[in-house]
Amino acid sequence: MNREEKIRQLQELKVKSQLGGGPKRIEKQHGKGKMTARERVHALLDEGTFEELDMFVTHQCQDFNMKKQRILTDGVITGFGKVDGRPVCVFSQDFTIFGGSLSGAYAKKICKIMDLAMKCGYPVIGLNDSGGARIQEGVESLGGYADIFLRNVLTSGVVPQISAIMGPCAGGAVYSPALTDFIFMVDKTSYMYVTGPNVVKTVTHEEVTHDQLGGAVVHNAKSGVAHFLASDDTECLENIRTLLSYLPLNNMENPPVIETSDPVNRMDVELDSIIPEDPDQPYDMKDVVRHIVDDGVFFEVHEHWGKNIIVGFARIGGYSVGIVGNQPNHLAGCLDIDASTKGGRFVRFCDCFNIPIITFEDVPGFLPGTGQEHGGIIRNGSKLLYAFCECTVPKITVITRKAYGGAYDVMSSKHIRGDFNFAWPSAAVAVMGAQGAVEILYAKELKNAEDREARKSEIVKDYEDLFCSPFEAARRGYIDDVIEAHTTRPRLVAALQFTENKRDSNPPKKHGNIPL
Ligand code: HXC
Repeated sequence: MNREEKIRQLQELKVKSQLGGGPKRIEKQHGKGKMTARERVHALLDEGTFEELDMFVTHQCQDFNMKKQRILTDGVITGFGKVDGRPVCVFSQDFTIFGGSLSGAYAKKICKIMDLAMKCGYPVIGLNDSGGARIQEGVESLGGYADIFLRNVLTSGVVPQISAIMGPCAGGAVYSPALTDFIFMVDKTSYMYVTGPNVVKTVTHEEVTHDQLGGAVVHNAKSGVAHFLASDDTECLENIRTLLSYLPLNNMENPPVIETSDPVNRMDVELDSIIPEDPDQPYDMKDVVRHIVDDGVFFEVHEHWGKNIIVGFARIGGYSVGIVGNQPNHLAGCLDIDASTKGGRFVRFCDCFNIPIITFEDVPGFLPGTGQEHGGIIRNGSKLLYAFCECTVPKITVITRKAYGGAYDVMSSKHIRGDFNFAWPSAAVAVMGAQGAVEILYAKELKNAEDREARKSEIVKDYEDLFCSPFEAARRGYIDDVIEAHTTRPRLVAALQFTENKRDSNPPKKHGNIPL
């Protein structure tokens, strides 16, 4: 071959590699409302920034007539590019080639880009759309998954790992996304399960569809496996870009600080009346958050699951922060198994990546009942406690109303290294609410009282005056300051500026043993 022929060969191969599994399969992909693997990469990254690697890779399988079916890329597009001008690594599974199934060669491509991401300190984004292990390759494929799982674990806490499920994700293949930090799912076109509807029917005699078993709504609202729900591919990829805007590229960096036009000293008088006079009336903690953060923008994580706690990202004075808040609008904001697991995982993510945590607290305690006790609220509740205790990023707490019982300790209290703990005048720090406390402490007296109700309301009032306020805790220094609600934003900005250079650490050890 002369020089020109060689160049022509290269150009032809490059054109060929763009065609995936061919026009018919691409049409089928579009017909399902899905983008192709390449279209997704281009939609995710800044225009013209994608640098593809390994497009000439093909599988090495000789069996099942596979010798004759070698398709460039082998079913996964890998490379790097930029999101908002910042580098990221990406792999995108191509369902049009062998159903996006994973071969040994394909796994090596993913491992290569993950290794580069680790070495260079850039996030990894995996776009999943695959029929699972390539059946023709047997153990070669299973081993390929294990190579990826190992990297998921070694990469965890070094660079952010984000997964989008944009088609099938079945069998052991689910465990790679499950090991990453966040899972996005696309409604109607994506599903994840360990065993599919046919196996379920054989084993348990249940009849379910793919969507009922492991669709995007199920995993966002029921299992908590997924963190974000998108209506289509475009929205999903846009949301990944938004998430990345809050994160540092790796654990050695701080998250980006974005200048804000929202004044840092903005006072919001609506906050002064946002807490209902009646302590049993609910309100929406997301309203509180939106009144305080830059431009009212709260990027919620796990919106549909464990709704009695809210978690997500926002900016305050330009600083990227993780928000954790009890939600009085749901189960009165009690902590239960799901809320503790959800909160604990989010706190640990923020701690991995140097993101300060702002906690908004209004918690009457842990949710009572056999369902919770038998389900292991002790084991699961301790996850949130462990996470807050272990966490060394700046921790700032605002008690808006109730801080009762063990939940007071758990929600980033001073005792577990909260840096600044503020309380609004509406706050009540106590072992329990007045009604419950009085029934226990004055049981005998109330039993013998002539007018039980009148005596009880007298004692309740005394208890409330003493304990249902922030001052008992403030007198002991467990609350750093009692602040008027409208001053919260400037106080948080000052606290974030002050803690910017915070250094704290845990004793040297291989790793702790979080209750799982
Ligand atoms: C090889 C596969 C494949 C696979 C699909 N294809 N899955 N090839 N290995 N695992 C091929 C099909 O032969 C077909 O090829 C093309 O991809 C598209 O598949 P269709 O079945 O036509 O698509 P669709 O009707 O949309 O159905 C998608 C599907 C189905 C539900 C994913 O393909 C399916 O059930 N695949 C098998 C899933 C599976 O059991 N995987 C193993 C899971 S266990 P042509 O040439 O016709 O286009 C696992 C273990 C991982 O993954 C272990 C890790 C530890």
